[in-house]
Amino acid sequence: MEKIFINGGKPLRGEVQIGGAKNAVVALLAGTVLAKDLCRIDNIPDISDVSIILNILHQLGADVRRVNKHCVEINTKHFDSGEVPYELTKHCRASYYLLGALFGRFGHARVALPGGCDFGVRPIDLHIYGFQQLGARYDFEKNAIVSLKADQDRPSGNMACLNFSVGATINIMLAAVRARGVTVIENAAKEPHVVDLANFLNSCGANVRGAGTDIIKINGVKELHGCEYAAIPDQIEAGTYMTAIAATHGQALVRNVIPKHMECISAKLIECGVNIQEFDDSILVSALGPIQRCNIKTMPYPGFPTDMQPQFGALLAAADGTSIMSEGIFDNRFRYMEQLTRMGAQLKVDGKVAVIEGVEQLQGAPVKAYDLRAGAAMVVAGLSAQGTTEIENIEFIDRGYEDIVGKLAAMGADIKRKNIPEFSAMKAAG
Ligand code: UD1
Repeated sequence: MEKIFINGGKPLRGEVQIGGAKNAVVALLAGTVLAKDLCRIDNIPDISDVSIILNILHQLGADVRRVNKHCVEINTKHFDSGEVPYELTKHCRASYYLLGALFGRFGHARVALPGGCDFGVRPIDLHIYGFQQLGARYDFEKNAIVSLKADQDRPSGNMACLNFSVGATINIMLAAVRARGVTVIENAAKEPHVVDLANFLNSCGANVRGAGTDIIKINGVKELHGCEYAAIPDQIEAGTYMTAIAATHGQALVRNVIPKHMECISAKLIECGVNIQEFDDSILVSALGPIQRCNIKTMPYPGFPTDMQPQFGALLAAADGTSIMSEGIFDNRFRYMEQLTRMGAQLKVDGKVAVIEGVEQLQGAPVKAYDLRAGAAMVVAGLSAQGTTEIENIEFIDRGYEDIVGKLAAMGADIKRKNIPEFSAMKAAG
């Protein structure tokens, strides 16, 4: 078992380079299925979620060639419309984008319900409703296979109101670009990765307008073609490093970001007393004074992202004063807080609201990463704590952060990844 060990209390300094956006890249990779041609995608992060989707594409017959760690060429000309089993989808929620992509390309799709982070019930009713609007007959088969079938070889454009769901907006966009006629998505999600997918699909010859607003209009085209495309930088990776710099009272430059995407996170850090200086594609974070309390409510973009809530929970655990955090997106996203209490945090959770009374200093402790961003929160807490923090279940962190240990060590953190023999294996050996 691998663990991350952090000796906290060292201010982060220097700079850090942010990679491509995980949530954009997993959607773009699914989008290559629609191109039936060679796509070259740059600025992809070297993380396990991306490897999982690339593996699924390869298993379905795509020609996948890694040009280098951050660039991949994919040709889906010879591609199988067959079933995507649970074995392939269980580790990555975004594998359900294959539903929209396969349905859009072949007019039918059979994909197992995905795995992914567990923060409460995560229904896909809006996705199914959207596919049905586009002419899909839907069936739920054994082995958790979701099956979609259009009467013809392509979906039919229609109106779908998607209640700001990111995943449903992306899936319906994928299904609609080759549909007959026009699709209008109302209450579309406006997240940067929704816009990035629209830009990618348009570079492949699609006609998607309005991404980034509440209403996306898609004129179906008969064929798409390949393209070269570079994914946007990762808003959440950048926000995580910004929070870590603040939590350690450090000063460092966060490079390769789109400052506009960071506005809500930057605003909350400023409220906490952190100095933020924006440049064209980088942000200087200086946190030389104490961290002040603040209240946070997570909301769809451009609101404060739920994927930054745990990292801010770790920051505010050692802030001056009492902060209130409300989770506005998911039902059960405060599980990590019980791990923070192991580090001396003073907090109470009541449903979707947490009250955090800042303590002077967190103390290092053995803790678990419950999911990807909960794991990031443990890293932020460990960096600011006194003493050693030992984080297990770090495979969750690897899903979304490329070389987090190397990047933080280069900024002055005392952090290491170590292989620890499992207790049961040790007992057997002993
Ligand atoms: C995406 C992101 C995830 C982020 C989340 C919110 C990816 C791969 N994942 O997840 O990192 O935390 O957006 O920004 O991009 N809902 C339904 N029915 C549905 C779909 C969603 O009720 O069919 C509900 C969900 O339970 C949740 C809310 O809508 O309460 C938002 O979910 P959604 O925006 O769909 O999140 P994901 O796409 O799963």
